[in-house]
Amino acid sequence: MYNFDKQYNRRGTECTKWDAFEGKDLLPMWIADMDFEAPAPIYEAFEKRASHHVYAYSMLSKQYYQAVIDWMQRRHNFHIEKDWIVFTPGVVVALTLGVQAVTEPGEEVMILSPVYGPFRGATTACGRKLVESPLINNNGYYTIDFEDMEKRITPNTKAFMLCSPHNPVGRVWTEEELKGIADFCLKHNLYLIADEIHNDLVFKDHIVINNISGDLAERTILCTAPSKTFNLAGLQASNIIIKNEELRTKFKQLLNNLHIGSANAFVDSVVIAAYTKCDEWLDELNAYLKANMEYFAKEINAIAPLKMCVPEGTYLAWVDCRGMNMTTKELTAFFKEKCGLVLNNGTFFGAEGEGFVRVNMACPRAYIEEAVKRIRGGFAKNK
Ligand SMILES: Cc1ncc(COP(=O)(O)O)c(C=O)c1O
Repeated sequence: MYNFDKQYNRRGTECTKWDAFEGKDLLPMWIADMDFEAPAPIYEAFEKRASHHVYAYSMLSKQYYQAVIDWMQRRHNFHIEKDWIVFTPGVVVALTLGVQAVTEPGEEVMILSPVYGPFRGATTACGRKLVESPLINNNGYYTIDFEDMEKRITPNTKAFMLCSPHNPVGRVWTEEELKGIADFCLKHNLYLIADEIHNDLVFKDHIVINNISGDLAERTILCTAPSKTFNLAGLQASNIIIKNEELRTKFKQLLNNLHIGSANAFVDSVVIAAYTKCDEWLDELNAYLKANMEYFAKEINAIAPLKMCVPEGTYLAWVDCRGMNMTTKELTAFFKEKCGLVLNNGTFFGAEGEGFVRVNMACPRAYIEEAVKRIRGGFAKNK
């Protein structure tokens, strides 16, 4: 049994979540990383590599690729081959390069909104255009509006960017929904850029989009990483799966142009440790996160007018505060100044996020209990 209740002080490590805000009493529950201590195989791999005192140019070993292949097979029933794996220093980099690999300037990329903010920048920063199809909000449980997608698509739309599982609404898409996405992409000849960074943090089965349609897999850039799963965002290591050779070559060319395709000195040994020795830790983590979510949802739904659904995956709670009748700016100020909590603005995820906040549940239960206490106190002060 791992002890996820352990409070591990992160302040003073220049970590973004805790150290980006002055004011000691603020409880940060924003950026998507976890406050848990890493499992022993991971910190031991860091320590072992650090104990060799040269940290120069590095490569990825055969064992690295095998660990990724075995993980995908074991955890996701997903067969991949070594050649399909392209290393990138993060997923957002891959989204950006993916857009450039499959579209030309002026062409359109469709996304479902609200969605992780950088989906937009990955598209617009390189001169492509966004087509946003709003998800349907059924009392906090979001679904895909396939009719709306059909209405919005144009001959100029060339790619679809999918977040699966979905940040921030916490959906783990069903087989039927993923088939709908695959049919839509194939019907309109779209490329798919699929961000599955949250694929291991689920409370029901996640289905890899490549397992839905072999035809679409030939047109898919699938982004995976150990970063959310094992809290390794600071390592900057992602594995992008591109089955189609021509597409892969194009993607690699863009990566090589920027000289960012090689891994740092810690990636090889740390990712091998994560993908070969930490299954049990991850299973226990998911159980802990689910219980955190259930606890928080029960408490939040008892504080009128706040509302939330228990997500099916991720560690992110999407809280509907529209009943408070505040602008995003006012909401953030309320939670920060009246409750001492740092949360994510809903509008970081698009216009559909107006009136929402995102709360990170990847922390010891005691922090969540404290957050609930602070929210109750904030509401009392606001009366
Ligand atoms: C859906 C999604 N994609 C990508 C990222 C960030 O990926 P990276 O840090 O590897 O660029 C996040 C982080 O929150 C995310 O939620």
